[in-house]
Amino acid sequence: VREISLLSSRIVVGPGALGWSTSADGVLGSELRRAFVLTDRNCLKYARRVEQGLKSAGVETQISALPAGELQKSLSTASKLHQQLARFGMDRKSVLFAVGGGVITDLGGFVASTYMRGIRVCLYPTTLLGQVDAAIGGKTGINLPQGKNLVGTFYQPALVGCDATVLKTLPDREYVSGLGEVVKYGMIRDATLFEFIDRNLAAIRGREPEVLDEIVHRCAAIKADVVAKDEKESGERAILNYGHTIGHALEAAGNFKTLHHGEAVAIGMEAEAILAMELGIAPLEVLAAQNRVLKLCGLPTRVKKMPEKKVLAALRLDKKNVSGRTRFVLPEAVGKVRWGVEVPSDLIAAALRTVTS
Ligand SMILES: NC(=O)c1ccc[n+]([C@@H]2O[C@H](COP(=O)([O-])OP(=O)(O)OC[C@H]3O[C@@H](n4cnc5c(N)ncnc54)[C@H](O)[C@@H]3O)[C@@H](O)[C@H]2O)c1
Ligand SMILES: [Zn+2]
Repeated sequence: VREISLLSSRIVVGPGALGWSTSADGVLGSELRRAFVLTDRNCLKYARRVEQGLKSAGVETQISALPAGELQKSLSTASKLHQQLARFGMDRKSVLFAVGGGVITDLGGFVASTYMRGIRVCLYPTTLLGQVDAAIGGKTGINLPQGKNLVGTFYQPALVGCDATVLKTLPDREYVSGLGEVVKYGMIRDATLFEFIDRNLAAIRGREPEVLDEIVHRCAAIKADVVAKDEKESGERAILNYGHTIGHALEAAGNFKTLHHGEAVAIGMEAEAILAMELGIAPLEVLAAQNRVLKLCGLPTRVKKMPEKKVLAALRLDKKNVSGRTRFVLPEAVGKVRWGVEVPSDLIAAALRTVTS
C-alpha cells in the first residue's frame, strides 16, 4: 500500500487497505478495546473483513448495517447511532469504522465527530466517488428536508483505507459516475493524470485493479494537497468545485433523480468549459479534449428535458454563492483552472441551453 498524509490523518491506498485495521500498525495504539463498525447492506462483506481484522487483534466489535441510500444521512439515523454507541459502551478511546460509500462515510464521520465531543474514526470508502472524494478532506454531512449537507462538521479521520479491488462489485452507473470526479482532478490540477486516463480508457472501463489503484492514488493525493492548503474552504479548495456549480443546479433541477452526481458534474464541466471558451479563457481544444474523454468514460455531456428556468433558479440558490453572485471555476488548459470568475448571465443561459438541448 502507498500512503498519503493529510493534516492529522493517514490515507492508505492499495490492495489490502481494508485489512489495515490500525491496531496492527499502531495508528490507534494498543489501548483500543471497543470498535463500532458502520456499513450498509451492500457493503456488509467488506465491513466483515474490517471487523475480522479488529476481532483477531482482540478488539470487541459491534456491527451495524443500514439500508443503502441517501435517506440514511439524517439526524434521526445519526441519533439512533449515537445511542447504539452509548449502549455498546463506547468511550473516548473507542473508534468508529465506517465501511461504505459517501453516505456511510459522511454519516459515520458526523456521528464520530459529535459522540463524546469526538471519537476517532477510520473510513474505508467502497465507491469510486468515496475513494477519490467523499472520504478525503474531513467534511461530514447530514441532510435536512431543506437541503443536502446542511448539517455537518469538519473532522479529519484518523485513517482512510482505499482498496480499489472492492470497486469491482459497484453497479455500473455508480462506477461511471465516479469517473466524472476523476476526470475533474485531471482538469483542475494534473495534465499527466488526464493523459493517463486517456491512454488507459479500456482498462478503466474494464476496472483493471492496477490502473484503478493508480488513479485512486493520484486523485486522493490531489484532493489531500488542495485540502491541506485550505482545509475550511476559504480559497483554493474552491477548485474542487469545477463542474459543480452548474452540475449541482442540474442535479437539483432534476430533483436529484434524473442525474447521478458524477453525471451532473460531467455535464457541468462541459457547460463550464463552454463558458471558458466563450470568455476567451480557454481555447476550443480544451473543451474538445475534455468532451472526448468524458464520452469515452461513458459519461453524458448533455441532458434532455431539463427546464432552463428550474436550472437557473437552482443556480441562484446555490449555497456557495458569495453575496448572491454565482462564481465559477473555469479551465484555462487541461490541468489548470482559475476560480472566483464572474460570468455574464446571458452566457450562462446560453451554455445551459447547449447542454440541455
Ligand atoms: N464529505 C465530502 O466531502 C463528500 C464529497 C462528495 C460526496 N459526498 C457525499 O457522498 C454521498 C454519495 O456517495 P456515493 O456515491 O458513494 O453513494 P452511496 O454511499 O449511496 O453508494 C452508492 C451505492 O453503491 C453501493 N455500494 C457502495 N460500495 C459498493 C461496492 N463496493 N459494491 C457494491 N455496491 C456498493 C451502496 O450501497 C449504494 O447503494 C452523498 O451523500 C454526498 O453528499 C461527500
Ligand atoms: Zn462532486
